[in-house]
Amino acid sequence: MKKLNLFAGIFFSLSLLSGNLRADSGDKEMGRFISNLMKRMTLEEKIGQLYQCSGGFATGPNNTKIDRTEMISKGLLGSMLNVSGVANTRKYQEAAMKSRLQIPLIFGLDVIHGFRTGFPLPLAEAASFDLEAIERSARCSAREAAAAGLHWTFAPMVDISWDARWGRVMEGAGEDPFYGAKVAEARVQGLQGDDLSDNSTIMACIKHFAGYGAPIAGKDYNSVDMSMGHFANFYMLPYKAGAGAGAATFMSAFNDFNNEPSTGNTFLLRNLLKDKWGFKGFVVSDWGSVGEMINHRYATNEKEAAYKGITAGLDMEMVSECYLKNLKSLVEEGRVPENLVDDAVRRILEQKYKLGLFEDPFKYCNEGREKEVIGSRQSREDACYVAERSMVLLKNENNILPLAKDIKKVSLIGALSKSQKDMCGAWSCADVSKVVTLYDAMCSRGVHVDYVEGYDLEKNTIIDLNKTLSSARNSDVVVIAMGERAWESGEMRSKGDISIAAEQQKLVSELVKTGKPVVVLLMCGRPVIFNEVREKAPAILCTWWLGSEAGNAICNVLWGDYNPSGKLPMTFPQHNGQIPINYQYKSTGRPKENGGWSTKYIDISREPAYPFGYGLSYTTFEYSDVKVSVVKKDGVYANVSVNVKNTGKYEGEEVVQLYVRDEVASITRPVKELKGFEKISLKPGESKKVVFEITDEQLGFYNNSMNYVVEKGDFTFMVGTNSRDLQSVKFTLN
Ligand code: BGC
Repeated sequence: MKKLNLFAGIFFSLSLLSGNLRADSGDKEMGRFISNLMKRMTLEEKIGQLYQCSGGFATGPNNTKIDRTEMISKGLLGSMLNVSGVANTRKYQEAAMKSRLQIPLIFGLDVIHGFRTGFPLPLAEAASFDLEAIERSARCSAREAAAAGLHWTFAPMVDISWDARWGRVMEGAGEDPFYGAKVAEARVQGLQGDDLSDNSTIMACIKHFAGYGAPIAGKDYNSVDMSMGHFANFYMLPYKAGAGAGAATFMSAFNDFNNEPSTGNTFLLRNLLKDKWGFKGFVVSDWGSVGEMINHRYATNEKEAAYKGITAGLDMEMVSECYLKNLKSLVEEGRVPENLVDDAVRRILEQKYKLGLFEDPFKYCNEGREKEVIGSRQSREDACYVAERSMVLLKNENNILPLAKDIKKVSLIGALSKSQKDMCGAWSCADVSKVVTLYDAMCSRGVHVDYVEGYDLEKNTIIDLNKTLSSARNSDVVVIAMGERAWESGEMRSKGDISIAAEQQKLVSELVKTGKPVVVLLMCGRPVIFNEVREKAPAILCTWWLGSEAGNAICNVLWGDYNPSGKLPMTFPQHNGQIPINYQYKSTGRPKENGGWSTKYIDISREPAYPFGYGLSYTTFEYSDVKVSVVKKDGVYANVSVNVKNTGKYEGEEVVQLYVRDEVASITRPVKELKGFEKISLKPGESKKVVFEITDEQLGFYNNSMNYVVEKGDFTFMVGTNSRDLQSVKFTLN
């Protein structure tokens, strides 16, 4: 039985203030090189390494547009964000090479879903349940970003969220910790590869540590309040997985955690991340979040904020200048031991070393490579491949989809189908001019496309209904692109109502009345509520925002060149009042209807619109023969197997999902938890046996003493096509 003590080492922070700092990185040569360098550094130069300024546009408030060239050439700056392109990064790196010790700068940017070639939103990619595709996307982002002189992306965001009002759900992998952890690993691997010094890889940054996805009432930047047990079992896993996958950096979160801002949180940064998990990289603050400890009323002024940050284990300060202005006096006054500063500096220099920048500071500055790599054929192919796999088919009555190859006339409705900017999705670095829209892609397929705007996205009203209906009547099929605008999700885009505007939904109903087949393309950056459309439209494909190849990928799915295989990584609610909603809730003492005495609402259903893991295919899959067999293999308790057969007409992929329920435990446990999945491909008539191994990972949990435990007793294993439609078998662990 595995027992991990989460809290072991909680007192390490005290010894850090006085004694020996951290274990050697293992790389002796690097250690020697950095020790020699640090011996020559003044305290000011060290503090400079801990500062990151924005060299360009703002991704937060109080952007200082000061020219930092002089500061750089004095060796007083460690890093810049929001600068990219070889011409720009070269200019600043040249300034750094004029400094006394010639310590290179590192350049970071939020490369969140592709760089100049845009990829699907991270949430959309997560819908693929295809870890290879997700890694491929991250690899392409890294390749293009590195070619543009970047060394570092502030991604992946691994925050779990059950609240679709929070705009940043678009940036994560959804609601499930087990799956979120696998996606985190794939993204880190894709970005960093096996060698950071390779000039096609960049540093990953696991963010936002910790709990940023659980702001109270879904309001961005809001307080977070959760018990340690809740954190350990639902939110922690993806961060831990990211550290385990070797992420070079972590970012502290804006929110407070257990009553202390994450940025000044010794438990999170020092005890858990660095001591317990053995994280060797460095921690950067979020934009201005060291200074924001004053707004949290956790620090009286910038000096106290600096004190709290550095003692907690926050290594690099982004944008605010508390370290820059105050660390020197804090050290001189003896409040902050210099070895605390040294530890932070060493961590940052080590990553610079690993990137190969001391060998060649201009390693990532190659105009030729920049031209060749960015927007290359490889990038476009990767983007289309991942986009196809990210879509989720929600409804397909009478097999309206795929469209017949000989369809002659399509009535295409909705301005979203023509919007290059929206196709990119929120927080995109993509070259908008190179985005293939749905309209473009459809036209280039040789069908006659009758485009009608149909709906004013600014005013949220139907326009010229008669024209739209007559276009529909004169076509073979109606395709309507509807949903949110891209800018409606992302940072600072929390919503109080995630419903699709009523008029937009009404338009769909009007179109359905024409009797023509209507296909709804749901474009969104979060789960949305669209009950009227769910009821009326015969076919619904959730396309999210898919990036540069959006139009081609959507057409490939519409015409069946790719059979959709995505599954929802977040529960879609039916009503705003159900939020936060998730599939791995707990039983409660009154789980079932019992004369009305149960956990429910009196005015709305408690069932979601679509459950986690839901998604259809053009073919059908039959699950049979779910079995559990005891295994005598080290670390494996049992195997759960299932036969999956393709019973339809098309070749297709299916995400076979395993859920586990711990029947009785020493703490209250969820009704079910995803603990395995496998994406398989089957030809018509073909069957495959899928086997899941049951190990500690499937059975265990963190108890209230924060020990990871596996308890004996009864378990139910459930296998199926989504978190609701499952077949189960019983198992007893003796
Ligand atoms: C966001 C971070 C981002 C940073 C830098 C902040 O507002 O929360 O996720 O990396 O800005 O752009």
